[in-house]
Amino acid sequence: MRKRHLCDGIDIPEVGLGCWQLGADWGEVADSEAQAILDQAYADGVRLFDTAAGYGVGRSERLLGAFKQQHPDIVIITKSGVWRDPADPEGARKLREGALQSRENLGVETIDLLQLHCVPTPVMADDRVWEALAALRDEGIISRFGASVETIDEGLMCLQRAGLASLQIIFNCFRQRPLDRLLPEAARAGVGIIVRLPLASGLLSGKFGASTAFAENDHRNYNRDGAAFNVGETFAGLTFSDGLRLTADCDAILPGAAPLAQRAIRWILGHEAVSVVIPGASKPEQVASNVAAAALPAFSATVHEDLRSWCTSEVDPLIRGVY
Ligand SMILES: NC(=O)c1ccc[n+]([C@@H]2O[C@H](COP(=O)([O-])OP(=O)(O)OC[C@H]3O[C@@H](n4cnc5c(N)ncnc54)[C@H](OP(=O)(O)O)[C@@H]3O)[C@@H](O)[C@H]2O)c1
Repeated sequence: MRKRHLCDGIDIPEVGLGCWQLGADWGEVADSEAQAILDQAYADGVRLFDTAAGYGVGRSERLLGAFKQQHPDIVIITKSGVWRDPADPEGARKLREGALQSRENLGVETIDLLQLHCVPTPVMADDRVWEALAALRDEGIISRFGASVETIDEGLMCLQRAGLASLQIIFNCFRQRPLDRLLPEAARAGVGIIVRLPLASGLLSGKFGASTAFAENDHRNYNRDGAAFNVGETFAGLTFSDGLRLTADCDAILPGAAPLAQRAIRWILGHEAVSVVIPGASKPEQVASNVAAAALPAFSATVHEDLRSWCTSEVDPLIRGVY
């Protein structure tokens, strides 16, 4: 796989692995299956793994920590969402304690990259959180910090912050607005872009149908209308039925015989401002397929234009939640 630059000291193969599935919220993924997913990823050349303290209350981090014992060359990036109110006098302490817990879960001396985990906008706007992150870096608990954000405006705001190493955003065939300003400005600022939800929670694999049912403990069941967190994190903010219909459109616009999931990931990789795409997986074969996307030929400018204008006219009006 081609390597791309994420930030100072981290150049990694362009397809990484999202490890939310190894924690919770995606139905049952047994430890043995999680291990098989990680093994497949490593064997296929994946070296960047995205997790969060909140994924299964540390389960995903602990699995990755054990995996790093076997493969010290991997990069694990994690997230913290504990600071919820900018005026919380305990915010910095909570952030530090959370980072120490993540460090223990991951079994490392220093966390490669700690991202704010979609904290409320006022927290992101407050100097204190950035000072606290810089203090963690200066103390050697983390090597770098970044932010995972929900909206374009939050992303633009974070780009103003000194020391920001990376920005994690939702960017996929259904959510193309980052192309207008966010990706060009991140590239100008030299900040790496980490792309989550590349498959819109699996919709863009094309494998779902009207009768597809999700487990009770799968966010695609309990959060499909945003009951638990930002609806944008589930099916990219589309209703399931709109998502099914639009997936069929997308399949028709992106040419080629490769599975739609691969074409959807290849389309993302067609944007040079992207440092790494982190599809999640609940089965090892999904990882292998997603990595194979990197070997597909690039789409033409015409295909990019067609998909863009379709997205603007047909998809944008249907996206729910903050964007
Ligand atoms: N707030 C945040 O910072 C935040 C929020 C969301 C996600 N993330 C990160 O981003 C990562 C990726 O996002 P995501 O997992 O939410 O969405 P995603 O990558 O768009 O979708 C993952 C799901 O797509 C399906 N899938 C994956 N590869 C496939 C393939 N080749 N063929 C068929 N189906 C395939 C699987 O569904 P099935 O399980 O049904 O098979 C898988 O669970 C997460 O794991 C997490 O690390 C961060």
